[in-house]
Amino acid sequence: MSMSGNKEQLSADEQIECLRQQLMEAQKMTALGELVSTTTHEFNNVLMTIINYAKIGMRRKDDESRKKAFEKILAAGERAAKITNSVLGMARNRSQSFEPTELETLIEESLVLLEREFAKYRIRVERQFGKVPRVRANGNQIQQVLLNLFINARQAMPKGGRVLLRLEHDAEGDMVNIIVRDSGAGVPPEKLPRIFEPFFSTKSGPDATGKGGTGLGLASCREIIEAHRGRIRVASTLGKGTEFTIKLPVIPIATSSTPSVPAPTISTPPINGAPATPSAD
Ligand SMILES: Nc1ncnc2c1ncn2[C@@H]1O[C@H](COP(=O)(O)OP(=O)(O)OP(=O)(O)O)[C@@H](O)[C@H]1O
Ligand SMILES: [Mg+2]
Repeated sequence: MSMSGNKEQLSADEQIECLRQQLMEAQKMTALGELVSTTTHEFNNVLMTIINYAKIGMRRKDDESRKKAFEKILAAGERAAKITNSVLGMARNRSQSFEPTELETLIEESLVLLEREFAKYRIRVERQFGKVPRVRANGNQIQQVLLNLFINARQAMPKGGRVLLRLEHDAEGDMVNIIVRDSGAGVPPEKLPRIFEPFFSTKSGPDATGKGGTGLGLASCREIIEAHRGRIRVASTLGKGTEFTIKLPVIPIATSSTPSVPAPTISTPPINGAPATPSAD
């Protein structure tokens, strides 16, 4: 490890830093494992729908039933495409770079992966998405944060409930706030200061879906958000629910002296009516 110098031993600080990085790597692997298991389940479910309705369509002779079967197959196929799209997005974005990121899309792509799980646990998702500017973010990492928060929320509501997702622009601080609120069990006040600590967990181990219990989820969320020069805060009321607020810095308007947003070298056709070239408002 040491490149030069006569001391082979790492200082305490270096050791801590090294362990900290290993922890974050471990959380990444856990998150990846959870993602694989979630998407496989989701995919399997979609395939079952397709197979069953294809069978129905073949058995029934009347147009009405066949039409219905085709509709179900189409809907399931479209959902399968959405799921792959989401996973591909995460796989593609393996880089550590920060880019102008649209949070609404990212939130939706994360939700797709948990849609069925939420439905199974009777969790309703409510969206309050205000119009917000793009933030400087690594999409992959923010998605990891969102999945951690969504899974925590789901686990706090074993009998169902509501997840409220809000996006708002804090113009004064030039930040975008992502708010994830659940109507779950809440955190007792004496435990609240500890929830971001690595290995702090009140869960006895992985649940029926194979998730939870390591205590690294929120530690890695904080790590990621702080690397974005953002902030993550929590507020909770026992028996009522918990609210996490993430603040991420808005993309600064590029000037010649701060080329933080590289100009695209190839101009691509506009998608969804968005301008192909970046414009300053
Ligand atoms: N939305 C929430 N509602 C209630 N308690 C929560 C919520 N989010 C986190 N907690 C509490 O904070 C603890 C730490 O959360 P964290 O995500 O770091 O670890 P974990 O979920 O226990 O395990 P994992 O590493 O698998 O995420 C949880 O065990 C739980 O007690
Ligand atoms: Mg967790």
